[in-house]
Amino acid sequence: MDKFISNQLIVSRSVVRQGIQRGEAAVNGMLVRDSGTLIDVDNDIIAYKGNIINYKEYVYILMNKPHGVLSAATDKMCKTVVDLVPDHLKRQGIVPVGRLDKDTTGLLIITDDGAFAHNCISPKKKISKSYIAHLDGDINEDMIAKFQNGVVLADGTVCRSAILERMDKNIARITITEGKYHQVKRMFGTVGLGVNGLHRESIGGLYLPNTLKFGECIEMTKQQLEDCIYNKKV
Ligand code: URA
Repeated sequence: MDKFISNQLIVSRSVVRQGIQRGEAAVNGMLVRDSGTLIDVDNDIIAYKGNIINYKEYVYILMNKPHGVLSAATDKMCKTVVDLVPDHLKRQGIVPVGRLDKDTTGLLIITDDGAFAHNCISPKKKISKSYIAHLDGDINEDMIAKFQNGVVLADGTVCRSAILERMDKNIARITITEGKYHQVKRMFGTVGLGVNGLHRESIGGLYLPNTLKFGECIEMTKQQLEDCIYNKKV
């Protein structure tokens, strides 16, 4: 029982054990003080500190990543996206799906479902990711054609065809289907443009809800996420 509670909430095994011994846990309404009590996660109703724990194999979180926060689970120096996840959604093993740079904002999925994360970032799946880029110079037709033909980065890496849409003279939407290191910034670098601001607006057909402020999260189900990403009707 202590392993289950500790995994579902982000509480260490030893703290949970102490809580159970103090009489803070119940199975099917009966107080249980033995932390080694065997439970059936599909059928037993487990309560800890007065709250019923709804068993979920995995958790799927959508975050509007703020500027200045690392896309990582932990870091000694810097605040991470996992630090921002509210306690009721926090679990051991949650990590961001792919990385946004520290200064990039926008749509980020956080989960402990490794297979889901792998599918989402695998270039083989060709899931599109779109970003709004604020640039330090103007966008022209040549750049749009160059991006469409596949940019060759400074180190010789060839990028897949990307869609560049001019939204204002120095603001563009760029849609790519892979996720190389600093890809968008490096792609703009090849046409002599620096990126002053980058915001991810979508992954496949999944968009940030416009009510979600920077740093806020919502929980979704795997089904909801997949229906949106692969653009099925929800
Ligand atoms: N491309 C970048 O250069 N940075 C990001 O954060 C995401 C894509």
